[in-house]
Amino acid sequence: MDKNLIVGGNSLVRLENGNLVNYINFDNAATTPPFQSVLNEIVDFSNIYSSVHRGTGYKSIISSMIYDEGREIVLNFVGGNKEYHTVVFLKNTTECINKLSYRLQDTLKDKVVLSTYMEHHSNLLPWKYRFTTDYIEVDSMGRLCLEDLEFKLKLYKGKVGLVAVTGASNVTGYINPIYDIARICHSYGAKILVDGAQLIPHNHFDMKPIDSPEHIDYIAFSAHKMYAPFGTGVLIAPKNTFEKGFSEHIGGGTIKFVSIKDTIWADPPEKEEAGTPNLMGVVALSTSIKTLQNLNIQNIEEYERNLTKYALDLLKNIPQLILYDDMNVEEKVSIISFNMEGLNHDELATMLAREGGIAVRNGCFCAQPYVQRLLKISDEDMKKYMNDESLLRPGLVRISFGLYNDYNEVYLLAYLLNEISKDIEFYKNKYRNSPFY
Ligand SMILES: Cc1ncc(COP(=O)(O)O)c(C=O)c1O
Repeated sequence: MDKNLIVGGNSLVRLENGNLVNYINFDNAATTPPFQSVLNEIVDFSNIYSSVHRGTGYKSIISSMIYDEGREIVLNFVGGNKEYHTVVFLKNTTECINKLSYRLQDTLKDKVVLSTYMEHHSNLLPWKYRFTTDYIEVDSMGRLCLEDLEFKLKLYKGKVGLVAVTGASNVTGYINPIYDIARICHSYGAKILVDGAQLIPHNHFDMKPIDSPEHIDYIAFSAHKMYAPFGTGVLIAPKNTFEKGFSEHIGGGTIKFVSIKDTIWADPPEKEEAGTPNLMGVVALSTSIKTLQNLNIQNIEEYERNLTKYALDLLKNIPQLILYDDMNVEEKVSIISFNMEGLNHDELATMLAREGGIAVRNGCFCAQPYVQRLLKISDEDMKKYMNDESLLRPGLVRISFGLYNDYNEVYLLAYLLNEISKDIEFYKNKYRNSPFY
């Protein structure tokens, strides 16, 4: 796909040897560069930009309309139901899941929440610290064990109220069979939250009709991972989630009436969005969704899948490279994690940046329990790392493609990895005294 779709796609960076090369961004799972269309719209819309839900001027009225229209665009994009669901705009996926966990405290008071070993900390910590939790296991390749899901649903005898699962892993890219999981959860009376941060930007997603046993009850995702910076996160949930009680943040915009004695809360979603809404964030997200729809999300899916297959085919032949992947490209998004024998993940990531101008991420990617499983580190050994900060942390190197990455870039990465693998000691010595970051 065309690099000009995004801003910064033709940036140059200087290598260790002084040469200028095209910057290769393989860190899209962390955050994507903006779509050009998004930035154009932000500049155009600045002529109208004004307060939301707070003014009678023409610009305020239009701004409020555009903001609310954003909810419809988002709902449409994920197949939500206007009568049943509400779209809450927050800051990012993390804030969305925190809100949901806060607002479900009463509903899930005597229940168990199942999360998984595969989760990003954002879909783990908010549950771990508010509820009785248990975690669905992954198999030796890191795929989620559906047998363990059923086992735990049976074990807790109808007490599981929610299963919080990622749509796609931010470490391996594995896509979870969310519709099968939804069917299983519903048959045991549990609801399902899908953390869509890594799924929504890459794959077609549908919440499915609410009378389908496969429907998704809650979804959360981040605009900054879908070519729309400016800080918007989306939480979609049934309206009745927010009927009782009130938001963890309260203030301007959250009430219908307030006196010193009484408060009548606004209806959701306004009740859940305290303070001045992030209009530019919503304009950016709406534009990004329109661009993704114009490009056709199925085409994006296919393009990225082929690129991932090409990458895996090259990487699997590189000596010393350890892939954390079951090679099933049909069931993963465009994320690949690896290590090279004889090198620390910090060292390898730094070499890729300095030798090839290739941006990757390394470490545990805010998914420590999952990386621990993938690296087969015992709990005992984990404790050693916890107790001794001077030890080199375990971790992986991750590449993640956006729709604008191309085959040539993947080839250059594989070429460089191959060169490094041929003379690890040379590269190790070269970067021995480099500060890693
Ligand atoms: C699977 C997954 N969930 C949640 C998050 C958190 O997203 P954010 O940082 O936008 O809140 C991320 C971010 O990398 C992620 O990959």
